Amino acid sequence: MMASTLAGRRALVTGAAGGIGGAIADRLIRDGATVMIADIDAERGARTARELSAAAFQQADVSDEADVTALFERVTRELGGLDILVNNAGVAESGGGVTGVPVSEWRRVMDVNVTGTFLCARAAFPLLAASGDGSIVNLSSIFGVTGLPAFPAYSAAKGAIANLTRQLAIEGGPLGIRANAVLPGYVDNDMGRSRDLLDPGAAARALAEREAAAARQPVARQCTPDEIAVAVAFLADPRASFVTGVLLPVDGGFLAQGDWRGPGREPA
Ligand SMILES: NC(=O)c1ccc[n+]([C@@H]2O[C@H](COP(=O)([O-])OP(=O)(O)OC[C@H]3O[C@@H](n4cnc5c(N)ncnc54)[C@H](O)[C@@H]3O)[C@@H](O)[C@H]2O)c1
Repeated sequence: MMASTLAGRRALVTGAAGGIGGAIADRLIRDGATVMIADIDAERGARTARELSAAAFQQADVSDEADVTALFERVTRELGGLDILVNNAGVAESGGGVTGVPVSEWRRVMDVNVTGTFLCARAAFPLLAASGDGSIVNLSSIFGVTGLPAFPAYSAAKGAIANLTRQLAIEGGPLGIRANAVLPGYVDNDMGRSRDLLDPGAAARALAEREAAAARQPVARQCTPDEIAVAVAFLADPRASFVTGVLLPVDGGFLAQGDWRGPGREPA
């Protein structure tokens, strides 16, 4: 049995109705934290909260300022404060590339990923400062530090989250707030199977491409959601007290390759 490394810690995980966010909420609860989950999807969110015995579920669109205000009022009321914020909610566009992405999709990807992370961090800052040992963990991506063909909005948004993480670490340090980001590689879950903006044919092609790309990594498979959650739990843990401003890839060595198309090329 795992030690209760997060006993007494109060956490909020966004986008936790399923996928990686659900696995993160599950891991934090198993490690002893009291966890509230938030998601735009009310039905799945409420169901997941029941299944995981989360402290509460709140429907919220993280890109909506009024929703975020209401969310943090509930956090304050029901958790009595906050020690851990996990900004996990995220979406990707349908993959039309720089000349094919409609501006509405570009804006939605920026709004949910970047503005959502900013709004939640802003609302959490006073609570995390009051905690005395606050931790923010943002979900960026390996494609926040490399480009991703066909996904300009997602690459740009995840890159913005990576650098916002560094900014939050600088501003949070004197307040006792650490801020770090996890950069998942290819994770075997819903986003990989059926991005919400993709048609079924495109989703099947995307999945095949992901599996092929993951097969060329040093660890030649996709990641499980819990392998991401374990990294988040480490960064949230007060024992990681000197770790801040870090972008932590959890990618089976993808970024270590230097050439994401995999082995077989001549040295450059
Ligand atoms: N799956 C991967 O391979 C992968 C790789 C790198 C990074 N990531 C990142 O990890 C995070 C989780 O991804 P996932 O694969 O579990 O995706 P997912 O699509 O399975 O889950 C995302 C969750 O966010 C919720 N959500 C969407 N828009 C929202 C909004 N405006 N407000 C609140 N909640 C909202 C969705 O309802 C969903 O429950 C995302 O930030 C994603 O970009 C995923």
